[in-house]
Amino acid sequence: MTGRAVVTGVGHYLPERIVPNSEFEAMLDTTDEWIKSRSGIERRHFAADGEQTSDLAAHAARAALADAGNKVDDIDAIILATSTADLTFPSAATMVQAALGMTRGFAFDIQAVCAGFVYALSTANAMILSGQARRVLVIGAETFSRILDWSDRSTCVLFGDGAGALVLEYQDGSGTSQDRGILAIDLNSDGRHKDLLYVDGGVSTQTTGYLRMQGNQVFRHAVEKLASTAETSLEHAGLTADDVDWIVPHQANIRIIKGTAKKMGVDMDRVIVTVQDHGNTSAASIPLALSVGKARGQIKPGDLLVTEAIGGGLAWGSVVLRW
Ligand code: UT7
Repeated sequence: MTGRAVVTGVGHYLPERIVPNSEFEAMLDTTDEWIKSRSGIERRHFAADGEQTSDLAAHAARAALADAGNKVDDIDAIILATSTADLTFPSAATMVQAALGMTRGFAFDIQAVCAGFVYALSTANAMILSGQARRVLVIGAETFSRILDWSDRSTCVLFGDGAGALVLEYQDGSGTSQDRGILAIDLNSDGRHKDLLYVDGGVSTQTTGYLRMQGNQVFRHAVEKLASTAETSLEHAGLTADDVDWIVPHQANIRIIKGTAKKMGVDMDRVIVTVQDHGNTSAASIPLALSVGKARGQIKPGDLLVTEAIGGGLAWGSVVLRW
């Protein structure tokens, strides 16, 4: 028998306010046509005043718990991927723990920007397989609207707010790629590229700062690194791109999503795409896409999924899992 960390529930939450591209036309030298054709984004959600990352995360967590048929007391740990925590400390994960009324177990945040959810899945998987936790709530939640420079048209039109969550639970498996659950993981980072995508402030500088990105440079790295990490984790699982039912990519740009699928030889009808409705929600984008993909009836039990993401660091990685 080989233990596996299996997804038993999924859920998401999007703030009420939907902002179409046309709202940016009124305040910036940009057009709906430019945003759509360069990124695939048509609209995004922005959190309301006073609505914080842990609020979004708690909504998504409740939805995932309900989908899994679990109560809060069934959960051993909360791992929350975010770069936009409510406060410098404590972690947003402990705020979610309090909001859910969870008085046991442990909770902490992970920060790997847009690759955060892949890193969080990897951490949860390791904890489950080592016996440290049996059931883990893994959340990606962001309020990137709070770190956008509204005068920078090259970044502020690209990002959105939201949250998605999974319940991952230990189950016995056969040790083959037919098992449900996480089958393989590949993580990478290369800090030499830290200046391509960053926030120009932080606690240690006593400022909040704004997101800065050399978009076309990040773009150049993205397709190559995403296809490569997906192929590496598939290889670790003893599988190939032909076995994949769904690529569930980080939703940053439709051109990156299409380029990666093409490089892997996977048709777009096997790719979950939500970027048009959510924009780039950083660590929230993969669990949001998983939840929406399931709700649309695209992702079904037993399907083989590969998720991949890249972002600030650069940090990137992928996870192969059977739903
Ligand atoms: O999730 C984390 C990882 N992040 C990403 O994956 C983002 C990766 N990068 C991208 O998605 C794309 O690079 C962008 C969507 C950000 C930009 O697309 P691009 O095709 O790489 O365009 P560009 O940055 O090379 O800019 C082309 C032109 C520039 O004008 P000039 O210098 O050619 O005259 C920009 O100033 O487009 C201009 N531009 C805009 N024009 C209208 C930049 N932003 C806008 C805008 N509206 N909002």
